[in-house]
Amino acid sequence: MAAAVTAVRGRLVWFRDDPFLVDRDEAFAYEEDGLLICEDGVITAAGDFQALRERLPEGVEPVHYPRHVITPGFVDTHTHYVQTGIIAAFGAQLIDWLDHYTYVEEQRFSDADHARDVASSFCDELLRNGTTTALTFCAVHPQSVDALFEEATRRNLRLAAGKVLMDRNAPDGLLDTASSGYEDSKALLEKWHGNGRNLYAITPRFAPTSTPEQLEAAGALWREHPEALMHTHVSENTGEISWVRSLFPDRHGYLDVYDHYGLLGPGAVLAHGVHLTGRERGRCAETGTAVAHCPTSNLFLGSGLFRVHDAKDPRHPMQVGLGTDIGAGTSFSLLATMNEAYKVAKLSSYPLDSRKAFFLATLGGARAMGIDDKVGSLEPGHEADFVVLDPGATPLLARRTARAADIDELLFVLAVLGDDRAVRATYVAGALAHDRDAVPTGGDGPCPGTPPGVRDGSGA
Ligand code: GUN
Ligand code: ZN
Repeated sequence: MAAAVTAVRGRLVWFRDDPFLVDRDEAFAYEEDGLLICEDGVITAAGDFQALRERLPEGVEPVHYPRHVITPGFVDTHTHYVQTGIIAAFGAQLIDWLDHYTYVEEQRFSDADHARDVASSFCDELLRNGTTTALTFCAVHPQSVDALFEEATRRNLRLAAGKVLMDRNAPDGLLDTASSGYEDSKALLEKWHGNGRNLYAITPRFAPTSTPEQLEAAGALWREHPEALMHTHVSENTGEISWVRSLFPDRHGYLDVYDHYGLLGPGAVLAHGVHLTGRERGRCAETGTAVAHCPTSNLFLGSGLFRVHDAKDPRHPMQVGLGTDIGAGTSFSLLATMNEAYKVAKLSSYPLDSRKAFFLATLGGARAMGIDDKVGSLEPGHEADFVVLDPGATPLLARRTARAADIDELLFVLAVLGDDRAVRATYVAGALAHDRDAVPTGGDGPCPGTPPGVRDGSGA
């Protein structure tokens, strides 16, 4: 059978390496008039349109997005799908916010219908925002995990997720035990990891809500299944850090709790890390442990300012991705998240340039999750997940991007002014999965799922 071919034309932007660490031009790939060819969901060519056009199979016309920027689909390295409904909850810092809003909402996920409803809306929001890969917490209830993976599978997203492990310091309705948490996680991991594009993440909530026995069991499960990811929170809030010290007096700080139970290493993603010490950052770098930088959440909860340039210190650079941290975070948009990351960096006098910001939101996130051989890049061989960004999405964006002197400035303006409105289209494994301008009901207009290569995407 002939391969299913998708081709798009526009300004291609992606990364070959980490611009925090290698020469900026070596790390960055840009084609002003680029062509991306995908076959059976995989990228087979990315480069100059004129040079590559003869590679297009007979009869395939690329969808042309003039002036638009096409980047790898965004990678959200930390979020909570179960908190979609409590985004924008007023007034509290981390521990009070958990008690008053989060733990109340998460108890509703014992109801599989509620879980399916929220999972569906969450996956749609990802696509509307150009996010094609996310690492997300579920709730403690196994049915919350099934609901998410079922919805992700329907959309062919590449999601990593897991059942939350928590066996103390939370309402009874949210508690498992060390052994039930282990057994349920193992069964879910065996059911979902590598099933389609789904990946399983072993997910202890954070040190305060797990007993030493539960952390021990989580470490044992990860040793049995090193192919899975490991996802938790660390050093987000100073009150939380003091609490961890009192709960684990024998450990040398917060990170050492996870280290002690074998929960650091490649594939481990720790959310926040705002207050990690230099020694702790060094230990993350040494073990291949990644941090998800969640600026909108850190500002919203008043947690503190993550120092991305310290995390990328060339003497011990860590893997860093960006996380929306819904629902403490305030936007599903990785563009809006880059905007806040820029401001947070600026408060420690570090100008986070647009290449670095887009790297964190694409290849950096994929590296943090250990799946950069699969996603986060337009390099041939990668899965064909990409997003088409519209520099004229709003009157203000159109006015401002018209003055951009080069691609760096254009990307910067998109990050600072952009959000879901700037996402013209999202493609998943080579198929159009979100079309901003689709006519929703019945008419003649394009609709999601229309085979690619049949129309001009310019909107002109
Ligand atoms: N630490 C433990 N649980 C949570 C959570 O749900 N959100 C955030 N932001 N931090 C946490
Ligand atoms: Zn979180």
